[in-house]
This record gives sequence, structure tokens and C-alpha cells, in this order.
Amino acid sequence: MGEKRESTVEMLVGNNDWVIRKENGIKYGYHITQCMFSSGNINERRRMGEIVTENEIVVDLFCGIGYYTLPILMKDNVKHVYSCEWNINAIKALKFNLDNNNVKIKCTILEGDNRVTTNGLENIADRVLLGLLPTAEESYNVALKCLKEEGGVLHIHGLAPSGNHQVFLSETTEKLLKINLNYKIINCKINKIKSYAPHWDHLVLDIEIGKNNS
Ligand SMILES: C[S@@+](CC[C@H](N)C(=O)[O-])C[C@H]1O[C@@H](n2cnc3c(N)ncnc32)[C@H](O)[C@@H]1O
Repeated sequence: MGEKRESTVEMLVGNNDWVIRKENGIKYGYHITQCMFSSGNINERRRMGEIVTENEIVVDLFCGIGYYTLPILMKDNVKHVYSCEWNINAIKALKFNLDNNNVKIKCTILEGDNRVTTNGLENIADRVLLGLLPTAEESYNVALKCLKEEGGVLHIHGLAPSGNHQVFLSETTEKLLKINLNYKIINCKINKIKSYAPHWDHLVLDIEIGKNNS
């Protein structure tokens, strides 16, 4: 709950709340009374591990304990991942996870609000992940700032009515194009991650952005 996605789990028996969850060969360690873990996002974690191509620079704006950062690093074709997070407990777990999965060498953790910590990342990224619900809208301008001048891919999470996924896509692309007129949308894909609530779905948009030459 809350803007740092803190856990609401309470220990009823015992006091050791540390767990290591193994998924697709990746070990995710975290304190279950401190951090979240969305088991319903399993396919998206796998997909992010498969989608990155050779030598990409990735910015993960809401990385948590490494839900997407870890699968991307495990694939080993990425050049570098910049992982942003402001929850100190999630950062501690992320540091443990990078070490425990032997992937810390290609990752830089940016601790604090991504609207501030990404100030040195202008024009650097091939791909930016915006994994925040209900919306990552406040960081759309950050994502576009990080993207290379020639463009790249954004993965934008959000919610939409189950009967109308298109509305999330059209509203999001409209907002992006208003922020930076130098870009155009080349390609879009809507992916459903899971049912979020009755008649509402958690979606992620793959939006390929290119330079607007007109
Ligand atoms: C919902 S969690 C990540 C969920 C994950 N992407 C998934 O779908 O399983 C989002 C994380 O972003 C962090 N966060 C939210 N706003 C942030 C900001 N402005 N800067 C840095 N981290 C932020 C929260 O602390 C939280 O750990």
C-alpha cells in the first residue's frame, strides 16, 4: 500500500519474515512484512527477460526489489540497467538480489525519486520500464527524457476497463505526444498482465517511439 508499495503482511507465528522466491531460475529475496511481490505478474517478468536485445541500455523507473531488472540482467545481453527506487527496504532487497544472482556488475541503482535521480540520464536509454499502478503518468516526461534522441521502446503499465483496453492506449499516446513533439509513435501493442479488479485489467503497453522528422 501507499506510494512506496509497502507490505501489509503481519507475522502471526515466528519472527523471520525473510523469503527467497525462485521463479524462472531467478531468486527474489525480500522481507514479506516490508515489500510487495505480485505473483500475477509472473508472465511479464519472464517477458521482460526475453524482450531486451543485444547491447541495450535500459532504465527501470519503478524497480522495487528487481521484479523486471533481475530477469533483464539474467539474460546477459543487456549493456546496462539503471534501476530507480525510493523505498529503502526494497533497495536493500534489490542489492541482496543483484549479488545473490551474480548480476550486479551491469546495474546502477538510483536511490530516491526517479523524477530527480534520472537527471544525468538524458538521451541514454533504448528502453524504459514504467511499472507503477494505478498509473506512472507523473514520470512519462522522465521516461521520454531518458530515451535516446532517435527513440526506443516504453513499457507503460496501467489499468483499463476489461471491455475497452483501447482507451488506455489512446489516452497514453496522446499524453506522450503532447510532452515531446520531437517524437512520433511507430508501433504500439497492448498486453494484458492480469485481471486487477472486477471489470478492470492490468495492462502494459509496448510503445515504440521514433524521431519526428516532419
Ligand atoms: C508497484 S512497485 C513495482 C511493481 C513491479 N513493477 C511489478 O509490476 O511487479 C513500484 C515501485 O516503485 C517505487 N516508486 C514509486 N514511485 C517512485 C518514484 N517516483 N521514484 C522511485 N521509485 C518509486 C515504489 O516504492 C515501488 O517499490
